[in-house]
Amino acid sequence: MSSLVGSPISRVDGPAKVTGRATYAAEFHPDGLTYAAIVESSISAGSISHIDSTLAERAPGVLMVLTFLNAPKLPYGPYKQRPAVEPVSGEALRVLQDAEIKFSGQPIGVVVAQTQTQAEYAASLVRVRYVPAKSLTHFDSDRSVPTSEAAAKKGRGPEARQGGDADEAFHQAAVKIDAHYVQPREHHNAMEPHATVAEWKDGQLTIWDKTQWVDNVREEMVRIFGISADSVRVINPFVGGAFGSSLRTWPHVTLAVMASRQVGRPVRLELTRRQLYYSTGFRPHTEQRVALGAQHEGHLQAHIQEAIGQTSTYEEFAEATLDAPAVTYACENRRTSYRLVPMNTNTPCPMRGPGHATGLFAQEVAMDELAALLKLDPIQLRLRNFAERSPKKDLPWSSNALQDCYRIGAERFGWERRTPEPRSMRAGRQLVGLGMATAVNTAPRYPASASATLLADGTVVVRSATSDMGPGTYTAMTQVAADTLGLPLPRVRFELGDSTFPKAEEHGGSTTTASIGPAVREACVALLAKISNMLGLSALFAPDLQDKIKLAGFSQIEAHSDSKPGEEKNRYAMYSFGAIFAEVHVDPDFGTVRVTRISGAYDAGRIVNPKLARSQCIGGMIGGLGMALLEGAEWDTRLGRVANANLAEYLVPVCADIGELDVVFVPGEDKLLSPLGVKGLAELGLCGVAPAIANAVWHATGVRVRELPITPDKLI
Ligand code: MOS
Repeated sequence: MSSLVGSPISRVDGPAKVTGRATYAAEFHPDGLTYAAIVESSISAGSISHIDSTLAERAPGVLMVLTFLNAPKLPYGPYKQRPAVEPVSGEALRVLQDAEIKFSGQPIGVVVAQTQTQAEYAASLVRVRYVPAKSLTHFDSDRSVPTSEAAAKKGRGPEARQGGDADEAFHQAAVKIDAHYVQPREHHNAMEPHATVAEWKDGQLTIWDKTQWVDNVREEMVRIFGISADSVRVINPFVGGAFGSSLRTWPHVTLAVMASRQVGRPVRLELTRRQLYYSTGFRPHTEQRVALGAQHEGHLQAHIQEAIGQTSTYEEFAEATLDAPAVTYACENRRTSYRLVPMNTNTPCPMRGPGHATGLFAQEVAMDELAALLKLDPIQLRLRNFAERSPKKDLPWSSNALQDCYRIGAERFGWERRTPEPRSMRAGRQLVGLGMATAVNTAPRYPASASATLLADGTVVVRSATSDMGPGTYTAMTQVAADTLGLPLPRVRFELGDSTFPKAEEHGGSTTTASIGPAVREACVALLAKISNMLGLSALFAPDLQDKIKLAGFSQIEAHSDSKPGEEKNRYAMYSFGAIFAEVHVDPDFGTVRVTRISGAYDAGRIVNPKLARSQCIGGMIGGLGMALLEGAEWDTRLGRVANANLAEYLVPVCADIGELDVVFVPGEDKLLSPLGVKGLAELGLCGVAPAIANAVWHATGVRVRELPITPDKLI
């Protein structure tokens, strides 16, 4: 094994990012750039009876105001009619096509002006009258509907296999718990706001867009505007965090493209921080029932998990909430169900560990409750129910080192210090609690393509239309390429974020390294073969390489690869695992919780770059800390709006909230999943963190909080 893959090298794009040379979507300035602002609906359901943009049109600097009255009718292909079971299914909200209002904050107009300020001021001058309709703003589980068959097929509906008779087994079980868990609507709140710059020039459309998936933005625009794929280019070299919010295109992308075509100049549309809460997606409010039944010695007899999530009235957003419950533990009698409540809101979307983090919260707190009832150590209960094969479809694991995660994690954390009784540990007057939870996430590999090009200056440029929203794709792929080519890092450059590059699937779902990595390696192997044929391999390392290339009459030598997962993906269950441990100090009078330590032991296969991987995991821990203690939209049911749509009132952890974070990767590699031996890591980092903290809070206080976030009022 070469030294480059597996090295903790620093980000190759780090210097560009910290010196401001990295260009984000909103920072592209094509000649003649104009600025756009959105007019939003102030009601949550009904229709527009009257809209008057006269004043706005007369305001200084205004070039154009578009509403449903004068916006072009767009062809919106049939693709749009699929339910939103996949991020790729697109934007069913037909922007500015009619007078209908589906949620508060819905874009109902766009103003284009010479400056941003002029556009925003003019947007405030658009006069609107509405005919309100009955608004569905309550999360009312009585109104819930089953997920569609399309969602079920994608593994985002009720689990098809319902082993045994879970209800009867639960009824018969010696020890049982049956509880209700609630998680609020959560928002991604990436540092970089969503932004799109669109330019039409000679029939060619160029879009600079904050996205995790340039090819998807191109596909969406092809379908919405009815144009050919080769007339659209999407560019996005840098992403300032996204967490799943940029897997889909959102209405503002359509608005920017539409406005630019109408005004005949490039248009920039950047969402305000507040608009991010309405004009992109969010993690849906979800309520779950978990019923666990066990024998006295701890073997699970019954596992029932029922989830109800929210969606919009115009799209079905279903996520894999019940996947972790279906695979984590062995249990003969299991039943899961999943329903959705359509509401007058924008559509939810994947957010960091989508589904898995949600399902695991309820499951792992329930397991802790069961362990307490059984007077069994929480790790022992989990080990006793370890699944030797995946209970879902009864497949062998491609690899599963979860037992090592428990053992190694417990050792590092010092789990043996824990005395089982709640309120039994103290530090001064603070109550001390130790809690743990299992983390499980899918680890898929997707098809991917890449190119590798030897340039005349002796450097190799490797390209794929993937993205880097922060995990370090640039760095990891440079490592894989340099490693394969046998070249030092400075002679290799990896480029991404351009739809003219070889095709890639979403940069999400913890798939990038396992998917793009093999494509990069294959492209580099193919390039070596070509060089070997054309110049002789030693030429690559010769000091006069440049002359050799010229003499041979080439300007460059290029190779391409199309890589895809093998048959194994149907024969094995492919997952990443972790064991998460948290220590909290709780003030007994004020109910304030401080997370003093988190330890995570992870099985993510081979680690390409331990420094970046650790960074992913501590990011996940911090996100999980937010989920456990701070985050949540304050949903105003009268207005159908998020009352805290800003970073002052939507709380996320800051440095002062964060204690000691410890990350360890258990040794292993998974060649069945990917020839590089890697498994998915990123989203695993958030999984299991919130329940580990909730369980630690119970251990500290004896109070079982089943509704996130765990705020002080719930503890006193
Ligand atoms: Mo991740 S929620 O697939 O960006």
